Amino acid sequence: MKLRRSALVATVALVAAGALNAVPASAGHPERPADLSLRALGQRSDLAIGTAVDMAALDDTTDPQYRKLVAEQFSSVTPENVMKWEVLEPTQGTYNWAPADELIAFTKQNKQRVRGHVLVWQNQLPAWLTDGVNNGTISDDQLRDILHKHITDTVSHFKGKIWQWDVVNEAASDPWDSPSTIHYKGFWTQHLGGGIIADAFRWAHQADPKALLFYNDYNIEAFGDGGPGDKTQFVYNMVKQLKHDGVPIDGVGSQGHLGTQYGDYDALQINDTLNRFTDLGLDVAFTEVDVRSQMTAGVQAGDSNEINPRLQAAAADFSALMQGCLANRRCISFTVWGFTDKHSWVPGWFKDPLEGMATLYDENYQPKRAYNTLKADLIFAGRR
Ligand code: G3I
Repeated sequence: MKLRRSALVATVALVAAGALNAVPASAGHPERPADLSLRALGQRSDLAIGTAVDMAALDDTTDPQYRKLVAEQFSSVTPENVMKWEVLEPTQGTYNWAPADELIAFTKQNKQRVRGHVLVWQNQLPAWLTDGVNNGTISDDQLRDILHKHITDTVSHFKGKIWQWDVVNEAASDPWDSPSTIHYKGFWTQHLGGGIIADAFRWAHQADPKALLFYNDYNIEAFGDGGPGDKTQFVYNMVKQLKHDGVPIDGVGSQGHLGTQYGDYDALQINDTLNRFTDLGLDVAFTEVDVRSQMTAGVQAGDSNEINPRLQAAAADFSALMQGCLANRRCISFTVWGFTDKHSWVPGWFKDPLEGMATLYDENYQPKRAYNTLKADLIFAGRR
């Protein structure tokens, strides 16, 4: 029988280590495993590797590769849209659980965990709700009861099936908003005040005490100057206060929507930021990672002079987030917001100028440099 090269090296190393009464080589240099899927590599470091799932793509029988890769590469999934309020309750009092239930069944088959997304967010709300508030037929007191019911019904329906819930999403403003001092923004806090955030966590916890409850936001990958325009600092202060007040919050989700045209973060900056959050006694997770690029005429024409630097910069950004996460044991999952450019929210959202190329696989499901870089990071980590 032929020993694999890595196994042979490991055997020799173990014998040598035994002779020297030293730590086995495998402790510092884990061998390259046979299963090189992202999910298997992540497991070696107790890190769930997740993806957002587009149910239309998962159900598309003409596109079997999508379903195959979700199952093969990922140990966690997040419904990209089907647990949002407009999908769950398009008509008041009539729930549409079917698409989300279908995803849960898929994850059961494939031994995957689920990040529930999302309970309190200002986007993708049903028209009956926003219209009712706008035309005055829903008062603020009624709105509060409606939100309480939504959280209770939704979390109860999925009780025991959700690992992490994004309870509150994107409640902090951005420095480019007016005023530029970071503040609570959006429908819920406008109508019900900042205290609704704590209540949402309490209501979710009552409905499923075992689910991990997260605050989730973008542009909080690194601290700025710590001043009034620093969004990461604002979120930090908010979750610190929630913890202090005994609110049942378990973690902070950092979305990780990056772009190659912006300043890069390095892995240590990322890790420092995560460490500050986990020092508060919270878990952290990257929840929606993608790295977009401007689709110039040259990129669209296939000019490698323009494409290659973007692929390299994207790989570096994915890797900085992954390395920062791997260096903190309370970073419990790393989720990409779609894994193929064939199904990514980016080109539909950033149209002028057009952006794209944001995911790990191209439109033909060919893995890009970023995919292999993440794998290399996971191989080198061997965090156990
Ligand atoms: O379902 C309708 C379909 O019936 C209709 O024909 C079609 C026509 O435009 O629209 C479909 O709805 C779209 C929906 O995605 C489902 O595909 C909406 O127009 C579109 O706006 C919506 O976009 C989603 C976006 O959230 C909305 O805010 C993206 O798919 C989704 O990736 C994105 O995800 C968010 C996270 O939840 C929170 N963080 C940011 C992230 C990216 O924006």
